[in-house]
Amino acid sequence: MKIAILGASGYTGFELLRILAAHPDAEIVAVTSRQRKGSGISEVFPSLKGFYSLKFADPEDFGKIRVDIVFSALPHGASQDVIPVLLESGNRVIDLSADYRLKDPDVYRIWYGEHKSPGLLKKAVYGLPEVHRKKVQKASLIANPGCYPTGAILALAPLVKKGLVRPGSIIVDSKSGVSGAGRGAALETSFVEVCGGFKAYKIGSHRHAPEIEQELKGLLKEDVSVTFTPHLIPVSRGILTTAYAELRKPLNLSEAHSIYRAFYGREPFVRVLDEGKFPDIRDVRCSNYCDIGVWADGVGKRVIVVSAIDNLVKGASGQAVQNMNVMYGLDEKTGLEHPPAAV
Ligand SMILES: NC(=O)c1ccc[n+]([C@@H]2O[C@H](COP(=O)([O-])OP(=O)(O)OC[C@H]3O[C@@H](n4cnc5c(N)ncnc54)[C@H](OP(=O)(O)O)[C@@H]3O)[C@@H](O)[C@H]2O)c1
Repeated sequence: MKIAILGASGYTGFELLRILAAHPDAEIVAVTSRQRKGSGISEVFPSLKGFYSLKFADPEDFGKIRVDIVFSALPHGASQDVIPVLLESGNRVIDLSADYRLKDPDVYRIWYGEHKSPGLLKKAVYGLPEVHRKKVQKASLIANPGCYPTGAILALAPLVKKGLVRPGSIIVDSKSGVSGAGRGAALETSFVEVCGGFKAYKIGSHRHAPEIEQELKGLLKEDVSVTFTPHLIPVSRGILTTAYAELRKPLNLSEAHSIYRAFYGREPFVRVLDEGKFPDIRDVRCSNYCDIGVWADGVGKRVIVVSAIDNLVKGASGQAVQNMNVMYGLDEKTGLEHPPAAV
């Protein structure tokens, strides 16, 4: 497959290049960056020396490219400037930004401002294969899920889909490594500001909250409100999410576990841990896995679910490649089947 990557000089762009270097069906034919145009891939990413001979192109010179898949790893806003044209030229597009994730243009406006191609919001498929695999197969535009929403939705989907959760009771408490903020230099994500600290941010105002609510509402078929608090932790990558919810009836631990095992039993990238075990971001590092641990005591109605993902892989570029595999009828695991780099 011929592949172009827009915004390939950022962190998710790097991850796409790293993963696709080992994908037997992928040939990267174009990569863009405004600041690094003319540089070779290994000048920008020395770890990729020997894997690519391509140079970064200016997105302005990109023109009407026609390939099998375009990955857009641009910031939100910039993605919607180019995606309508790419679709008109017959490309299938996987957008890693938030531009096409929200279905309702009014909700988009509240959180991000006016959308430039609102007609495409309904057409885009939310690319979480564990929930929307059939739609992903036929999609021409994939809205690749946000990193926090991936961890939160996978943590809650089995119980929510079964209608077991009270819709107003969900609390999602997530902690992310600093690469979640992208590669651009910013004071608040610089080493000295982050190292040794641990803080909550954007309380009550993070843009991933409506995305989590939209997808859980789709599963529950009822309005869902989520209390979502993200935190920044001084590691480069990984998201640990602890989700709390009230159940409509008590579940004991083995009942809760069997619901998760049944829901994810055939999923190649979701690993439900044994009873009493809870995940660690180390154990999914640099991999497309989402590890999940479940707690319930059969007495109270509270359930606690912990998920761990790598924000740049299952939370972004790995999931994007998983979606590409699904769209082209390839084995979903192609290029993604390596063990995590836990140490
Ligand atoms: N980081 C994560 O964990 C994560 C997870 C899920 C989703 N995402 C989403 O994925 C997208 C990429 O994230 P990232 O972390 O890789 O960001 P990043 O490291 O900041 O990289 C952004 C890329 O886009 C290019 N770019 C920036 N502004 C542009 C513009 N106006 N027009 C054209 N190109 C532009 C940059 O290169 P030049 O400036 O040289 O053009 C760079 O290649 C974002 O929408 C982000 O929200 C990120």
